[in-house]
Amino acid sequence: MRVLVTGGAGYIGSHTVLLLLEEGHEVFVVDNFSNSSPESLRRVAALSGRAATLYQADLLDAESLNRVLGETKPDAVIHFAGLKAVGESVAKPLMYYRNNVTGTLNLLDAMELAGCRNLVFSSSATVYGECTELPLVETTQRSATNPYGRTKLHIEEMLEELAAADERWSIAALRYFNPVGAHESGRIGEDPQGIPNNLMPFVAQVAVGRRDKVNVFGGDYPTVDGTGVRDYIHVVDLAAGHLAALDYLAQRTGSFVWNLGTGEGSSVLEVIQAFARAADKDVPYQIVDRRPGDVAENYADPVKARLELGWKAERGLEQMVQDMWRWQEQNPYGFPDEQPESLPDEELNEQIRLAASKAATATDPTTNKN
Ligand code: NAD
Ligand code: UFG
Repeated sequence: MRVLVTGGAGYIGSHTVLLLLEEGHEVFVVDNFSNSSPESLRRVAALSGRAATLYQADLLDAESLNRVLGETKPDAVIHFAGLKAVGESVAKPLMYYRNNVTGTLNLLDAMELAGCRNLVFSSSATVYGECTELPLVETTQRSATNPYGRTKLHIEEMLEELAAADERWSIAALRYFNPVGAHESGRIGEDPQGIPNNLMPFVAQVAVGRRDKVNVFGGDYPTVDGTGVRDYIHVVDLAAGHLAALDYLAQRTGSFVWNLGTGEGSSVLEVIQAFARAADKDVPYQIVDRRPGDVAENYADPVKARLELGWKAERGLEQMVQDMWRWQEQNPYGFPDEQPESLPDEELNEQIRLAASKAATATDPTTNKN
C-alpha cells in the first residue's frame, strides 16, 4: 500500500513508519520538523534497510500539501502531525486550533483533491475529559478540559460528519492512552524539547542524570498508593494498532473509533520503581501538590480493538521501561541537534536512501560483507 504519514518524523510517527517499511509498504512522510528531526528517519532507514520518502512541508501550507498528495497518490494517510503539549495549548490556544484543526482541514481538502479517502487519525484519551467511570469505553460521552483536548474533540467530530456526508470516506480515530517506551534497538525514541511534561520521559532524564528528582504530582489520590494511575502503552504496540486500522479501513467505509491502551493501570510510584530496576539506578522523587486538571486514575477498555481489529498490546510495563532506558542511555540528549530547514528535500532523501542501502547491504547474505 502507498501510505502517506504526516508527522512521520515524530515519536509515534517514526515507530509507525518503521513498521510500515518492515511490512513492505511504500511510505511518504510529510513533516515540518517543528518537534522532530530528520535523524529519526535516517535511523528508521538504517533499521529497516528501506527508505521512506520525505517531504518537508507544513500542513498549514495548503498549496504544498496539494502538491505532495498529487505527486505521491497515496492509498491511505496516517495523520500524526499536531501540537500536543496541554500547558502550551492553554497559553497559546489559537496556535493549537490553527495547527491542529486548520492543518487537518487542509489535509482533508488535499486528500479529497487527490481522490484518497482513507484516513487514520491520532486522537487521544484526552477526549474522555474528566470522566471517572472506569474502564473508559469508546461510547463514553466526550468532553475537553483544555484547548489541546478540544482540538482532538473537534477533529473527531469533523471526521464523523465528513464520513456521514460522503460514504466514500473510511476514517479511523485512534484514542491513545499514555504512549511510552522506544524501539527495542534503542535507536529511535521520544526526544522531548525542554522540560518534559510527561512522567516517563521525565523519569528517564532523572535516571540518566539530566535532572535531580521527579516531582510526583499528588500523593493523596484514592488509588493503590495515593499517586495517579494511567494506562501506559508501548509505542511499538501503538504503531501496530495503526497497521491493524489500515487493514480494517481497506475493506470498509464509514468512521470508526478505537481505544489503544492495555487496559491496565500503573501508578506514578510503580513507574518510578520499575524504571529504577531497569536502569539499576536510584530515581529520587518527592511528592508535591497535585497538578491542576489531573484525574486520579484512567485506563482503557481495550476490548473493541481486540474484537474488531484483532489488535492487542503485547508489551507490559517492564518492557516499556527497559526499552525506554536503552534509548535514553544510548541517547542521553536525544537526537543530535541539526537545522533541517537548511537542507533541501533531495539532500535529506539522499541521506535517508544511503542509510537504507548501507543497512540492506550489511544484512544481505549475497554480498559477503557481514
Ligand atoms: P511528536 O511531536 O513527536 O510528533 C508530531 C510530529 O508532527 C512532529 O514530527 C512535528 O514536527 C510534526 N508536525 C507538527 N505540526 C506540523 C505541521 N503543521 N506540519 C507538518 N508537521 C507537523 O508527537 P507524538 O507524540 O508522536 O504524537 C503524534 C500524534 O499523536 C499527535 O497528534 C498527538 O497529539 C497524538 N497523541 C500523542 C500522545 C502522546 O502522549 N505522545 C497521546 C495522545 C495523542
Ligand atoms: N506526573 C508526575 N510528575 C511529572 C509528570 C507527571 O507525577 O513530572 C504524573 C501525573 O500527575 C499523572 C501521571 O504522572 O498522574 C501521568 O502524567 P503524564 O503527564 O505523563 O500523562 P497524562 O495522563 O497527564 O497526559 C496524557 C497525555 C496528554 C493527554 C492525557 C489524557 O500526555 O496529551 O494523557 O489522555 F491529554
